[in-house]
Amino acid sequence: MAVDIRTGFTAEQRGEIAAGLTKLLADSYALYLKTHGYHWNVRGPNFGELHKMFEAQYTEMWQALDEMAERIRALGEFAPQGYGAFANLTSIKDGDPEKAASGMLEELMRDHETVIGTARAALSVADEADDQATVDTITMRLEAHEKHAWMLRATLGHK
Ligand SMILES: [Fe+2]
Repeated sequence: MAVDIRTGFTAEQRGEIAAGLTKLLADSYALYLKTHGYHWNVRGPNFGELHKMFEAQYTEMWQALDEMAERIRALGEFAPQGYGAFANLTSIKDGDPEKAASGMLEELMRDHETVIGTARAALSVADEADDQATVDTITMRLEAHEKHAWMLRATLGHK
């Protein structure tokens, strides 16, 4: 018998907010995994810089996963678990180790833009429900992914 959760949201609101966070968590996990893979497999004259930049980005993303998952739990929903669950939830495609460095940079830049879109959709659901704690969590993710996208874009030589 489940205890009722009295944190100021309806069960429907909690479910909808958690669904947005779950999608954001899955996209973040998939992009974490791809960025770590590109840290391993990137090649070329800028190897050292790219290897380090990818490490900074995957480390930042890795650290953020826990907060999103625990926010889902605080809302009273289960966090997704396992490769299969994440694969079904994410729209980020697996990386290709054979890709040239510039292709990796461009792909990661576009992936961050995808995650930003997922974050904005989740944010609007949380905002609609006056869930300030989730809004705060997602706002920080937006800031981080916009920064990652900028660094990748600038590394490619764009404004
Ligand atoms: Fe490493």
